[in-house]
Amino acid sequence: MERDKKIIFAPSLLSGNFADVQGSVKLIEDANSDWIHLDVMDGVFVPNITFGHKMVQDIRKITKLPLDVHLMTVHPENHISDFVKAGADYITFHLEAAVHSHRIIQQIKELGCKAGISIVPGTPAGTLSELLPFLDLILIMSVNPGFGGQSMITETLDKINFLNDLRKDKGYNYLISIDGGVNRDNAEMIKRKGTDVLISGSSFFKSSDPIAEAALIRGNKGV
Ligand code: DX5
Ligand code: ZN
Repeated sequence: MERDKKIIFAPSLLSGNFADVQGSVKLIEDANSDWIHLDVMDGVFVPNITFGHKMVQDIRKITKLPLDVHLMTVHPENHISDFVKAGADYITFHLEAAVHSHRIIQQIKELGCKAGISIVPGTPAGTLSELLPFLDLILIMSVNPGFGGQSMITETLDKINFLNDLRKDKGYNYLISIDGGVNRDNAEMIKRKGTDVLISGSSFFKSSDPIAEAALIRGNKGV
Protein backbone atom coordinates (compact mmCIF):
# COMPACT_ATOMS: atom_id res chain seq x y z
CA MET A 1 0.00 0.00 0.00
CA GLU A 2 2.67 2.48 -0.86
CA ARG A 3 1.50 5.98 -1.14
CA ASP A 4 -1.16 7.47 -3.24
CA LYS A 5 -1.30 10.64 -1.21
CA LYS A 6 -0.83 14.07 -2.61
CA ILE A 7 2.69 15.40 -2.84
CA ILE A 8 3.33 18.84 -1.39
CA PHE A 9 5.41 20.78 -3.90
CA ALA A 10 7.36 23.63 -2.33
CA PRO A 11 9.65 25.77 -4.49
CA SER A 12 12.45 27.49 -2.60
CA LEU A 13 12.71 31.24 -3.03
CA LEU A 14 16.48 30.94 -2.61
CA SER A 15 16.87 30.39 -6.35
CA GLY A 16 14.32 33.08 -7.22
CA ASN A 17 15.00 36.74 -7.95
CA PHE A 18 15.64 38.70 -4.73
CA ALA A 19 15.23 41.93 -6.70
CA ASP A 20 11.74 40.80 -7.73
CA VAL A 21 10.41 38.72 -4.88
CA GLN A 22 6.84 39.45 -5.87
CA GLY A 23 7.50 38.08 -9.36
CA SER A 24 9.10 34.95 -7.92
CA VAL A 25 6.17 34.39 -5.57
CA LYS A 26 3.78 34.81 -8.50
CA LEU A 27 5.71 32.22 -10.49
CA ILE A 28 5.47 29.81 -7.55
CA GLU A 29 1.71 30.38 -7.41
CA ASP A 30 1.29 30.07 -11.18
CA ALA A 31 2.99 26.68 -11.02
CA ASN A 32 0.23 25.42 -8.74
CA SER A 33 2.62 25.00 -5.84
CA ASP A 34 1.41 23.97 -2.41
CA TRP A 35 3.88 25.81 -0.19
CA ILE A 36 6.67 28.38 -0.46
CA HIS A 37 9.96 27.28 1.09
CA LEU A 38 11.94 30.13 2.67
CA ASP A 39 15.60 29.54 3.50
CA VAL A 40 16.88 31.70 6.34
CA MET A 41 20.68 31.59 6.49
CA ASP A 42 22.77 33.45 9.05
CA GLY A 43 26.33 33.19 7.71
CA VAL A 44 27.32 31.24 10.84
CA PHE A 45 25.51 27.92 10.84
CA VAL A 46 25.92 27.97 7.06
CA PRO A 47 28.31 30.15 5.00
CA ASN A 48 25.61 32.17 3.24
CA ILE A 49 23.37 34.98 4.44
CA THR A 50 19.88 35.30 2.96
CA PHE A 51 17.09 37.16 4.78
CA GLY A 52 15.25 37.48 8.08
CA HIS A 53 11.69 37.69 9.37
CA LYS A 54 10.91 40.99 7.58
CA MET A 55 11.04 39.12 4.28
CA VAL A 56 8.59 36.53 5.60
CA GLN A 57 6.31 39.28 6.90
CA ASP A 58 6.24 41.00 3.52
CA ILE A 59 5.70 37.76 1.59
CA ARG A 60 2.85 36.91 3.96
CA LYS A 61 1.03 40.01 2.65
CA ILE A 62 1.17 38.95 -0.98
CA THR A 63 0.28 35.24 -0.88
CA LYS A 64 -2.04 32.83 0.86
CA LEU A 65 0.24 29.85 0.29
CA PRO A 66 1.62 28.25 3.45
CA LEU A 67 5.09 29.58 4.31
CA ASP A 68 7.61 26.87 5.15
CA VAL A 69 10.47 28.60 6.97
CA HIS A 70 13.75 26.68 7.11
CA LEU A 71 15.99 28.23 9.75
CA MET A 72 19.68 27.59 9.09
CA THR A 73 20.85 29.65 12.05
CA VAL A 74 22.61 29.17 15.33
CA HIS A 75 20.45 29.75 18.39
CA PRO A 76 17.17 29.14 16.56
CA GLU A 77 15.31 29.67 19.87
CA ASN A 78 16.09 33.40 19.62
CA HIS A 79 14.21 33.78 16.34
CA ILE A 80 11.06 31.68 16.71
CA SER A 81 8.77 34.40 17.99
CA ASP A 82 9.72 36.83 15.20
CA PHE A 83 9.04 34.27 12.49
CA VAL A 84 5.72 33.22 14.03
CA LYS A 85 4.62 36.87 14.18
CA ALA A 86 5.77 37.32 10.58
CA GLY A 87 3.25 34.68 9.50
CA ALA A 88 5.20 31.44 9.09
CA ASP A 89 3.07 28.30 8.96
CA TYR A 90 5.90 25.82 9.51
CA ILE A 91 9.15 26.63 11.30
CA THR A 92 11.95 24.13 10.92
CA PHE A 93 15.23 24.43 12.79
CA HIS A 94 18.38 22.30 12.72
CA LEU A 95 19.01 19.63 15.31
CA GLU A 96 22.73 20.42 14.97
CA ALA A 97 22.13 24.07 15.94
CA ALA A 98 20.12 23.36 19.07
CA VAL A 99 20.84 22.05 22.54
CA HIS A 100 17.28 22.01 23.85
CA SER A 101 15.49 20.74 20.75
CA HIS A 102 12.42 19.54 22.59
CA ARG A 103 11.95 22.90 24.22
CA ILE A 104 12.21 24.68 20.87
CA ILE A 105 9.57 22.38 19.38
CA GLN A 106 7.30 23.24 22.31
CA GLN A 107 8.06 26.92 21.85
CA ILE A 108 7.03 26.80 18.17
CA LYS A 109 3.84 24.87 18.87
CA GLU A 110 2.79 27.01 21.83
CA LEU A 111 2.97 30.03 19.55
CA GLY A 112 0.53 28.35 17.17
CA CYS A 113 2.91 27.20 14.44
CA LYS A 114 3.78 23.77 13.08
CA ALA A 115 7.18 22.55 14.24
CA GLY A 116 9.80 20.94 12.06
CA ILE A 117 13.34 19.74 12.58
CA SER A 118 16.06 19.27 9.99
CA ILE A 119 19.22 17.15 9.88
CA VAL A 120 22.26 17.63 7.66
CA PRO A 121 23.58 14.69 5.59
CA GLY A 122 26.11 13.70 8.27
CA THR A 123 23.52 13.36 11.05
CA PRO A 124 21.88 9.94 11.43
CA ALA A 125 18.07 9.86 11.43
CA GLY A 126 18.16 7.80 14.62
CA THR A 127 19.24 10.87 16.59
CA LEU A 128 15.68 12.17 16.13
CA SER A 129 14.02 9.20 17.84
CA GLU A 130 13.09 10.92 21.10
CA LEU A 131 11.60 13.89 19.25
CA LEU A 132 9.44 12.05 16.71
CA PRO A 133 6.17 12.07 18.71
CA PHE A 134 6.27 15.86 18.94
CA LEU A 135 7.09 16.84 15.38
CA ASP A 136 4.88 18.06 12.55
CA LEU A 137 7.63 17.86 9.95
CA ILE A 138 11.08 16.38 9.40
CA LEU A 139 13.24 17.99 6.77
CA ILE A 140 15.98 15.73 5.50
CA MET A 141 18.79 17.71 3.91
CA SER A 142 19.86 15.81 0.82
CA VAL A 143 22.75 18.25 0.24
CA ASN A 144 24.92 20.10 2.73
CA PRO A 145 22.92 23.20 3.58
CA GLY A 146 23.95 26.67 2.51
CA PHE A 147 23.64 26.74 -1.26
CA GLY A 148 21.17 25.97 -4.01
CA GLY A 149 22.09 24.06 -7.13
CA GLN A 150 24.05 21.16 -5.59
CA SER A 151 23.74 17.50 -6.60
CA MET A 152 21.71 15.28 -4.34
CA ILE A 153 23.59 12.95 -1.98
CA THR A 154 21.42 9.93 -2.69
CA GLU A 155 22.59 8.01 0.40
CA THR A 156 20.64 10.50 2.53
CA LEU A 157 17.42 9.08 1.10
CA ASP A 158 17.74 5.94 3.23
CA LYS A 159 16.59 8.18 6.07
CA ILE A 160 13.17 8.40 4.41
CA ASN A 161 12.65 4.64 4.68
CA PHE A 162 13.65 4.71 8.33
CA LEU A 163 11.32 7.60 9.20
CA ASN A 164 8.46 6.32 7.07
CA ASP A 165 8.59 2.86 8.68
CA LEU A 166 8.64 4.34 12.18
CA ARG A 167 5.76 6.62 11.31
CA LYS A 168 3.66 3.64 10.26
CA ASP A 169 4.69 1.43 13.19
CA LYS A 170 4.13 4.04 15.88
CA GLY A 171 1.37 6.12 14.32
CA TYR A 172 3.38 9.33 14.24
CA ASN A 173 2.07 12.28 12.27
CA TYR A 174 5.08 14.14 10.90
CA LEU A 175 5.50 14.99 7.24
CA ILE A 176 8.77 13.98 5.59
CA SER A 177 10.37 16.68 3.46
CA ILE A 178 13.37 16.41 1.12
CA ASP A 179 15.53 19.45 0.46
CA GLY A 180 18.44 19.65 -1.96
CA GLY A 181 19.02 18.50 -5.51
CA VAL A 182 15.42 17.47 -6.23
CA ASN A 183 14.71 17.38 -9.96
CA ARG A 184 12.49 15.76 -12.57
CA ASP A 185 14.77 12.71 -12.79
CA ASN A 186 14.85 11.76 -9.12
CA ALA A 187 11.44 13.04 -7.92
CA GLU A 188 9.48 9.86 -8.63
CA MET A 189 11.97 7.66 -6.77
CA ILE A 190 11.93 10.04 -3.78
CA LYS A 191 8.13 10.04 -3.69
CA ARG A 192 7.97 6.26 -3.76
CA LYS A 193 10.04 6.07 -0.59
CA GLY A 194 7.31 7.86 1.36
CA THR A 195 8.22 11.53 1.07
CA ASP A 196 5.44 14.08 1.54
CA VAL A 197 7.15 17.35 0.66
CA LEU A 198 9.44 17.99 -2.31
CA ILE A 199 11.43 21.21 -2.14
CA SER A 200 12.84 22.52 -5.38
CA GLY A 201 15.09 25.54 -5.78
CA SER A 202 17.23 25.59 -8.89
CA SER A 203 15.43 22.86 -10.84
CA PHE A 204 12.29 25.04 -10.67
CA PHE A 205 13.65 28.58 -11.01
CA LYS A 206 16.48 27.89 -13.45
CA SER A 207 14.26 25.96 -15.81
CA SER A 208 13.36 27.64 -19.10
CA ASP A 209 9.75 26.65 -18.34
CA PRO A 210 9.27 26.49 -14.54
CA ILE A 211 5.57 25.68 -14.80
CA ALA A 212 6.21 22.62 -16.96
CA GLU A 213 9.13 21.71 -14.71
CA ALA A 214 6.88 21.83 -11.63
CA ALA A 215 4.41 19.46 -13.31
CA LEU A 216 7.24 17.04 -14.14
CA ILE A 217 8.59 17.10 -10.57
CA ARG A 218 5.16 16.64 -9.00
CA GLY A 219 4.21 13.89 -11.44
CA ASN A 220 1.40 14.14 -13.88
CA LYS A 221 -1.10 11.74 -12.40
CA GLY A 222 -3.36 14.38 -10.93
CA VAL A 223 -1.19 15.01 -7.85
C1 DX5 B 1 19.90 24.66 0.80
C2 DX5 B 1 18.47 25.03 1.01
C3 DX5 B 1 17.54 24.54 -0.04
C4 DX5 B 1 17.83 25.01 -1.44
C5 DX5 B 1 17.60 23.87 -2.36
O1 DX5 B 1 20.62 24.90 1.95
O2 DX5 B 1 17.98 24.56 2.24
O3 DX5 B 1 16.18 24.81 0.29
O4 DX5 B 1 17.03 26.09 -1.85
O5 DX5 B 1 18.06 24.22 -3.61
P1 DX5 B 1 18.21 23.17 -4.77
O6 DX5 B 1 16.83 22.62 -5.05
O7 DX5 B 1 18.77 23.99 -5.88
O8 DX5 B 1 19.15 22.09 -4.30
ZN1 ZN C 1 15.76 24.72 2.60
